[in-house]
Amino acid sequence: MTTDAPQTGSILIVDDNRDLADNLAELLRDDGPSTAAAYAPGTALTMMREQPFDLAVIDIRMPEGSGMSLLRDVRRSCPEAEVIVMTANASLNTAMGALHEGAFAYLEKPFDPQHLITLCRRALTQTALRRERRRLQQDLTRSEALYRRVVDSVDALIVGIGPDDRLAMCNQGAVDALGYSRTALLSTSLVSLAASEAGGERLAEVVASARAGRKPVTMEVTLRRSDGSERVTHWTFSPLEPGARDGSQDSLVLGVASDLTDRVDLERRAAEAEAMASIATLTAGLAHEIRNPLNAAALQLQLLERHADKLADADGRTKVLKRVAIVEAELARLTNLLDDFLNLAKPQRLQLSPIALRGLLQEVHALQEPAIRRAHLKFVLEPGDTDLFALGDHGTLKQVLVNLVVNAFDALKGQTDGRVKLRAFAQGETRVGIEVSDNGPGIAPEIVDNLFTPFFTSKEAGTGLGLTIVKRILDRHGGSIQFVSPHGGGTTARISLERSPAPDPC
Ligand SMILES: Nc1ncnc2c1ncn2[C@@H]1O[C@H](COP(=O)(O)OP(=O)(O)OP(=O)(O)O)[C@@H](O)[C@H]1O
Ligand SMILES: [Mg+2]
Repeated sequence: MTTDAPQTGSILIVDDNRDLADNLAELLRDDGPSTAAAYAPGTALTMMREQPFDLAVIDIRMPEGSGMSLLRDVRRSCPEAEVIVMTANASLNTAMGALHEGAFAYLEKPFDPQHLITLCRRALTQTALRRERRRLQQDLTRSEALYRRVVDSVDALIVGIGPDDRLAMCNQGAVDALGYSRTALLSTSLVSLAASEAGGERLAEVVASARAGRKPVTMEVTLRRSDGSERVTHWTFSPLEPGARDGSQDSLVLGVASDLTDRVDLERRAAEAEAMASIATLTAGLAHEIRNPLNAAALQLQLLERHADKLADADGRTKVLKRVAIVEAELARLTNLLDDFLNLAKPQRLQLSPIALRGLLQEVHALQEPAIRRAHLKFVLEPGDTDLFALGDHGTLKQVLVNLVVNAFDALKGQTDGRVKLRAFAQGETRVGIEVSDNGPGIAPEIVDNLFTPFFTSKEAGTGLGLTIVKRILDRHGGSIQFVSPHGGGTTARISLERSPAPDPC
């Protein structure tokens, strides 16, 4: 658009001199724009409100009101329109005042009509440019909002990783999957969210190689959510060069991931269910076959014990009774193993209710503390967060904690400064955590993956079913368990359960 070309647009002439107003309207109309004339400020404003003009040419002195205040009103009600002010009584002050109030130009009467036409062309060009800029800005805002909506509604995690490894952008999918607010995510690095140290190291390598190379790189990594639970994610990282169009200076690594947790969980549950189904069938048959001879053997032992009691030879009697006691203990162990088997194969129905964690932890402490103390070790119940409730089944949760405490106790055997700690704490609004920790030798990284495998044990007298049962109970609660065992030794078993409000007192 050039100022020499005839203009489109609309001009309002405001002058109390009707002839002059009409003549100017006609003169300017010949140049292209549509024009109208008003002979008083009030009429001009009404016309402006009814149909906005692109330009107002206003006489500054009119008997029915000041052109300066009309100038102000026009600037306020029609900010995109330009105003040219004209007067017969020119003074530097009025000129400066008009320009200060936002007038496009100041024209002294009498003026050269061609000069007015040129000024009007420029003013109309200015208005048209401003309107165009506003329209483009609105288009841009709309298109940005659309992009954001699309990126946010994709069922995937999308992040942009900056040169300092922090997230420079993330979509709603990432916010939902990871449980942190967008602001919190934007000040963190993806690597710090990896559930394991090894996972974090691998993730850092993959992001660095995506940054260095030009090809997308993929990897699967488990990330930890804000509530402590874990998500299995599959990522594709690709380099994103600095954007010339969006003006960004930094090259980013774009990460797009799908959340595989539910699928992995489903596959794991299916595999477990299959394994459990075969164990159940086997157990049902074996239990019957084993229980009978076990009972018979226990009965025979009792008879043997009675006979031995009657032996005249005191030395011989003691020896026999000692052997009997050993066999009895072994039979008891067999019976326990059978019970564990049955428990795994045919889990009892959970009776869910709000469980006061303080009470539950006190019970477990009271139950296990004497044995731990006898072994000259310490069992500390930490105060933790008060008045927390978990939604759970009291009996099975107690079984979980007893198993973990016994494992911790076993790990400390032979240590002189050994101690087990038990504590409960809030995990955000919706979950609670319980930790059983010990300062024993820790768990070697290579066996961490086997902890929940049935019959995996490092103990001579262990069955390796304890943690399998623990995991199964927690899965059925919708809970999770995770072991943390730093290089320097010590183990923390951290459980996460659904938080429950306190039960109604009545
Ligand atoms: N706190 C711990 N410190 C070190 N190792 C541990 C700890 N807890 C568990 N483990 C390791 O995990 C293995 C499996 O534990 P799990 O409770 O399943 O079986 P177990 O204790 O060996 O036998 P049981 O079936 O009698 O409980 C243990 O044998 C031990 O190697
Ligand atoms: Mg155990």
